[in-house]
Amino acid sequence: MNAPPLLEARELCVRYLRPAGWLRRPAALEVLRGVNLQLARGEGLAVVGESGSGKSTLVRALLRLVRPHSGQALIAGSDLAILSPAELRAHRRRVSLVFQDPVASLNPAMQVGRIVEEPLLAAGSASADTRRQQVAVQLEAVGLGREYMTRRPHELSGGQAQRVALARALIAQPEVLICDEPVSALDMSLRAQVLALLAQQCRQRSLALLFVTHDLAAARLLCERVLVLRQGMVVEAATTAELFSNPQHAYTRELLGAMLTVDPDAARGSVRSS
Ligand SMILES: Nc1ncnc2c1ncn2[C@@H]1O[C@H](COP(=O)(O)OP(=O)(O)OP(=O)(O)O)[C@@H](O)[C@H]1O
Ligand SMILES: [Mg+2]
Repeated sequence: MNAPPLLEARELCVRYLRPAGWLRRPAALEVLRGVNLQLARGEGLAVVGESGSGKSTLVRALLRLVRPHSGQALIAGSDLAILSPAELRAHRRRVSLVFQDPVASLNPAMQVGRIVEEPLLAAGSASADTRRQQVAVQLEAVGLGREYMTRRPHELSGGQAQRVALARALIAQPEVLICDEPVSALDMSLRAQVLALLAQQCRQRSLALLFVTHDLAAARLLCERVLVLRQGMVVEAATTAELFSNPQHAYTRELLGAMLTVDPDAARGSVRSS
């Protein structure tokens, strides 16, 4: 029998409750409507769609940060809704996250070395010396030298901060990396570098990547498959190549028309920090 997908959504529906206000009844806002997705080991899947289409909500549901109204979110075939707290913690260790705003996602009071070390501490693994060594190796892998260990987040550029966030996300050897708009807070010139680094790390580690973006060009660089989300529904699911050569849905064609151009050659270039 084939292994189940690492991450899966089945007919997933999520609602947010809008509280009652002046002259307003409480109302349910339906944010995801019957979403299906499957992410296999080592695969890259992009979720694209305009602001408010439900992309981050989908990520939250796959980590059980929100509960589905109906349908299921599963990890390796297990429904997240019925996992015990211990099983849920184990699930969250298999899945790492990188957020949009790198500086805001790093604890401002901590030095970089400690920030990157944290997932190892949480996993309770290895001696302090070994952990330190692993942190240095991991920082090196994202193009940062040992001298960054003692910096604090406010002493980093946006691109460096996102490298630190990536180092922290990768250090405990997750099987799935979820990136929610990981480069949209960065300058255009830095975007290509960080995307190239992400692509390289995913390839080297055979990581499964769920990549949330507005940017179809970035999706093409990193992912074999794409889901197009609109108003909480998947309007198109295709391989990246098919999507670019033969988009089926009018909304996809609109997104392609509005596409920001990332120069793929520049993106494949240096992965070192500048
Ligand atoms: N906690 C919440 N309570 C109520 N409504 C919410 C909540 N979080 C998000 N929403 C609403 O749900 C919808 C989808 O939000 P979501 O953050 O998933 O969109 P998104 O596709 O990630 O957008 P963006 O590209 O701007 O990040 C939006 O209309 C948003 O206003
Ligand atoms: Mg979002």
